[in-house]
Amino acid sequence: MRIGVLTGGGDCPGLNAVIRAIVVGGTALHGDEFVGILDGWRGVIENNTVSLDSDQCRSILTKGGTILGSSRTNPFATDDGADRVQATMEALGLDALVAIGGDDTLGAAERLYQRGLPIVGVPKTIDNDLSGTEVTFGFDTAVQIATEAIDRLQTTAESHHRVIVCEVMGRNVGWIAVHAGIAGGAAEILIPEVPFSLDSVCERLRKRHGGDQFFSTVVVAEGAHPKDEETPGAFRSSQNSGNADQFGHVRLGGIGAYLAEEIERRTGYEARSTVLGHIQRGGSPTAFDRVLATRFGAAALAAVHDHDFGIMVALHAGAIVRIPLGDAVGKPKRVDPHLYEAVAALYLG
Ligand code: F6P
Repeated sequence: MRIGVLTGGGDCPGLNAVIRAIVVGGTALHGDEFVGILDGWRGVIENNTVSLDSDQCRSILTKGGTILGSSRTNPFATDDGADRVQATMEALGLDALVAIGGDDTLGAAERLYQRGLPIVGVPKTIDNDLSGTEVTFGFDTAVQIATEAIDRLQTTAESHHRVIVCEVMGRNVGWIAVHAGIAGGAAEILIPEVPFSLDSVCERLRKRHGGDQFFSTVVVAEGAHPKDEETPGAFRSSQNSGNADQFGHVRLGGIGAYLAEEIERRTGYEARSTVLGHIQRGGSPTAFDRVLATRFGAAALAAVHDHDFGIMVALHAGAIVRIPLGDAVGKPKRVDPHLYEAVAALYLG
């Protein structure tokens, strides 16, 4: 078969491991030919491709990023985008396209599949907010990086008797914040799913510092926000900056600095903030993510050869399964309230 492969949306450790599994596996098992689509959906719209063979995939397993490049281009943002995707697939003689991405990329894949295009999806995102799969590759690496950062922040917070706020990624969901916060022993974990009360945060910090603890780390997801009645309008607008991308997302940031300032002003404890940002998305994937990405790649290749299109490969109870793309997209997987409540009981009691 002749198979196109693309990576879309924010990059993520493990993308190259998926590409490698598809290309090396397809070449060895089936004699497939591959076309690398550059920069996500933009590459299909503009017919911008590279050849892709096993040799090019030889040493990419451990590399972060994606050898195919990525973009947040939405083929449905323009009237002729979807037609151009179809025209390019025909011009390239593709029998199938594997789209590796998060909710935006796979949402577009689902709509293109509904128009009759032979597409298989592979889930990726460090945010772990894609429904239909227990976990996405990239998440474990991001949690590992954030945990290491929190460990480091703890020691300097302790030396200076400070509160240090660590802002992690997570636009709509707090998976990274919760997992890294638990692993790093944070005093507070604040997530978009549960608007927080600044008064309560400060109260708990006072209680903690009044005992035998004279320092704290607070982990906050970039999309977290105070309860409405406590949110100054100015903060709300500064958290969202820049123009929206083609999927309507604005850039988030600023909650960490805002929190540190408010905590210091209200409690008198010296406070600092750190934004981990794209450090969480860069570099080599963990062993877990390399394995998961490789399994997803092999499963996507098998689905292509079964002509089972319009599906996404997913992890369910340790096994790789196929689910309809339509069941995965358009409904972010939020942090399990039981997990958050269990942690809140531990920390916020
Ligand atoms: O890919 C998801 C994500 O990492 C979000 O957590 C974050 O808000 C966003 O990407 C940042 O995107 P960009 O790289 O376009 O700034």
